[in-house]
Amino acid sequence: MEQFDLSVEPRDHALAATVHDIDLSQDLDEAVIAAIRAAWMKNPVLVFPGQTLTPEQHLAYSRRFGDLQGHTVKNILHPEYPEILVLSNRGRGGTAPINNGGAYWHSDITYEEIPPMGSILYGFEVPPEDGDTLYADMTAAYEALDGETKGQIDGTIGIHTYRNRHLAMVEAGVRPAQTEEQMAKWADVEHPVVRTHPETGRKALYINEGFTNAIKGLAEDEGRQLLDRLCAHATEDRFVYRHQWQPCDVVMWDNRCTMHRATTYDLSYERSMHRTTIRGIKPA
Ligand code: OGA
Ligand code: MN
Repeated sequence: MEQFDLSVEPRDHALAATVHDIDLSQDLDEAVIAAIRAAWMKNPVLVFPGQTLTPEQHLAYSRRFGDLQGHTVKNILHPEYPEILVLSNRGRGGTAPINNGGAYWHSDITYEEIPPMGSILYGFEVPPEDGDTLYADMTAAYEALDGETKGQIDGTIGIHTYRNRHLAMVEAGVRPAQTEEQMAKWADVEHPVVRTHPETGRKALYINEGFTNAIKGLAEDEGRQLLDRLCAHATEDRFVYRHQWQPCDVVMWDNRCTMHRATTYDLSYERSMHRTTIRGIKPA
């Protein structure tokens, strides 16, 4: 296969880079996809400015990286394209409006046995200021830990669940309550606290504020304290890239080695995005 010379420009944090001169609505050559994939393994947050994507085009591009998945909360999925999650404070397309959703550090859907590899978010309507998305570099955060902490967490297991996050959102009035029967689907799942990236071979922290609730074998408060400490460490400024959205940016991130969180904005502005979610493999 011919090599494709992708135009990749570093952003102000090593986690992120801009990819220029690529139109994601087109049926891209395999060499271009291979070059994007290679760039993605170096910069887990890739930004493609100035895109125009129909849902079909967004899905077609996303599928070049693997099978896609929906979300456990069905009323935020696009009614015609359930593999597109609609993140819109105006409830575009009849979906439930999301106002300041995702405003806690998380990696997408780690409360499932097989959490996603990556997510591709197309921000077609963004506020003129604020509403940034923050990303944390979990590889660099792991590497910067002291030897004692590494020794303490290597080989340990984190317990993840959607349940507590959901209850917190119900409490905050941003999500409708679900029945016990529906919530029973959100069983606890176990993932290693330190995950080896299946493609780069690098170790990364794999816990998050959103969905990791306990450390297996540790008392509840001891586990909580350790998780809080790891999360506070990983979200220090030096590990964080702030994405300030321009209209029609596509941001593609690797969920295996990053966390992200939404920030607040003036809700009188529309903020509407479409997300696809690429399936992954069981973390190890
Ligand atoms: C997401 C997400 C954050 C944001 O799309 O998975 O968490 O800033 N988005 O909207
Ligand atoms: Mn998210």
